[in-house]
Amino acid sequence: MTRVVWLTDLHLNFVESEIRERLLDDVIAARPDAVLIGGDIGEAQNVEQYLGRFSARVPCPIYFVLGNHDFYHSSVAAVRDAIGEFCKTCPRLTYLTLESRAIDLTSRVGLIGHDGWADARLGDYLGSDVFLSDYALIEELAGHYHLDRRPTLQWLADEAAGKIGDLLPLALVDYEHVVALTHVPPFQEACWYEGRLSDDNWLPHFTCKAMGDVMLDVMARHPTCKLTVLCGHTHGAGIAHPRDNIEVLTGGAVYGAPAITKAFDFE
Ligand SMILES: [Fe+2]
Ligand SMILES: [Fe+2]
Repeated sequence: MTRVVWLTDLHLNFVESEIRERLLDDVIAARPDAVLIGGDIGEAQNVEQYLGRFSARVPCPIYFVLGNHDFYHSSVAAVRDAIGEFCKTCPRLTYLTLESRAIDLTSRVGLIGHDGWADARLGDYLGSDVFLSDYALIEELAGHYHLDRRPTLQWLADEAAGKIGDLLPLALVDYEHVVALTHVPPFQEACWYEGRLSDDNWLPHFTCKAMGDVMLDVMARHPTCKLTVLCGHTHGAGIAHPRDNIEVLTGGAVYGAPAITKAFDFE
């Protein structure tokens, strides 16, 4: 049996170091065999520091993806490069977005993951009045009008979907159950916010439709296998089943109160 502790949307830059250390105490007390972190750990200038503390204190492998906030005040490309280099110095840390194969959680359960990106394909992007800080604070997205930004959002999402499209079928050769860790909900029905599903104003910024489409397609071809998707980003908790062999858990989160999202025991 493998005990996995999942955390998402920690936003550790919004709390004092005592609270960050107390969170690590809680993680250690849960006695995990593996830790999964689903992005929005901090911001570009401190995400490395926070991952370093996890690595220094938690005595097991730590698998993570990054969320939109982790790129704030820098660029997606620069942060991914820097975190990839940092992981080479911390053997316990694995940035799943850069991995090219599934990881053993047990002999029957494999782990894959990618940051994902909201791709403006669901809801009403052009009519939406939502302006995420992403669109000012992430280099690739800043300085564009609504319409000009959309190709970049979709390029980022398509890159994520392509990676999952490559990894998931390969993982299903070796594992009957695959866990996919990502930041952005890949399905409209997993896009929970304050107890309700997001509306057309928010959906373009809250869902990675490209990744969801790939998951539906692959899992339709593997009806006896199971996919569990762990996502966050909306900070609203919920469970969705877009197919009978796909379960999507969206993790709730509260700014200023980072906490374990859920613990699992995989056989
Ligand atoms: Fe978040
Ligand atoms: Fe986010």
